[in-house]
Amino acid sequence: MGARPLGLTLAIETSCDETSVAVVADGRRVLANVVHSQVDLHAEFGGVVPELAARDHLERLPHLLDLALEGAGVQPADVKLLAVTRGPGLAGCLLVGVGVAEGLSAAWARPVTGVNHLWGHIYAAMLTRPDLEPPLLGLVVSGAHSDLVLMPEHGRFEVIGRTRDDAAGEAFDKAARMLGLGYPGGPALDRLARTGHAERQPLPRPSLPGLEYSFSGLKTALLYRLRDLGEAVGPDARADLAAAFEQSVVESLLEKVDAALSSPFMGRYPAKPGGGGEIHEVVICGGVAANTLLRRRAAEVVGGRARLTMPPLDLCTDNAAMVAAAAHFAVAANGVEPTTVDPSLGW
Ligand code: KG4
Ligand code: ZN
Repeated sequence: MGARPLGLTLAIETSCDETSVAVVADGRRVLANVVHSQVDLHAEFGGVVPELAARDHLERLPHLLDLALEGAGVQPADVKLLAVTRGPGLAGCLLVGVGVAEGLSAAWARPVTGVNHLWGHIYAAMLTRPDLEPPLLGLVVSGAHSDLVLMPEHGRFEVIGRTRDDAAGEAFDKAARMLGLGYPGGPALDRLARTGHAERQPLPRPSLPGLEYSFSGLKTALLYRLRDLGEAVGPDARADLAAAFEQSVVESLLEKVDAALSSPFMGRYPAKPGGGGEIHEVVICGGVAANTLLRRRAAEVVGGRARLTMPPLDLCTDNAAMVAAAAHFAVAANGVEPTTVDPSLGW
């Protein structure tokens, strides 16, 4: 038997509609990241049904746990730290993950730490680029968040911008529903937009002062446009509207990244100690970071001003590897955190 890597973390993620178990070495190297998506379970309801989600997490976790250990080629005795998402997310779903993690902690005599899911999305970037270190500017765009954050060091975050109403992913999901696309809406809208022309059905670009986002006006504009078009909404017009909606959301998201890069915030945490320098790293992550147009345009907007890291698609959407990575660095920085479930946990 070869030498075991040190610092193995086993993490559980059950905050919404993905059940996931991962084993990560030293917070940087993914040995296993098993994800079960509940898309098929919720599709007929057009959205996530919390009770069904929680029950499915509970049914699937034992098998996923076996798969993760087997895939990583490790034994429970090799695991140093257990980690579990404690929020934000659906209460019943979080409780399932925490219950199982606590049970394993008792059975395996290992510490268990509670993890902030939002931190996890940022840490997906650390798995993507093992040399990536804070300070960094992060944009977390998911089903419930559109947050601009500064990360001065491991285990510390400062929010500098957020949405006033809908999150980007929520906006995509609602627009997808209006356009007759099923759940999950974001990926379906992304695919439809690829065949459309945004300039044929222009929609307003939300623009708030400072680093704030707002997507509810754009959503209303789409609703009115669909109503005005009435019978005329054929497949082509729907694809054009999907493209226009996507473009407005993406450009609005990146406008604030652009503004943040030019703002005094960037000098707040110099990259070199005492050096008056600036932040040179930008991370864009969360489910919406899987969006095709966002990935392309982000590279153009960030350009040569900073180094951009967007995790690969499977690390953008919910997964336990990112939770393990966040746990590893957060415990090193702040010690073990309680696993108390908090559905509306903030940064
Ligand atoms: O991070 P995530 O997997 O779960 C949460 O923590 O919320 O993000 C889910 C969100 C959903 O709103 C989904 O529609 C959106 O990410 N999403 C996308 C794409 N893939 C997922 N939105 C736009 N384009 C995509 N390709
Ligand atoms: Zn998420």
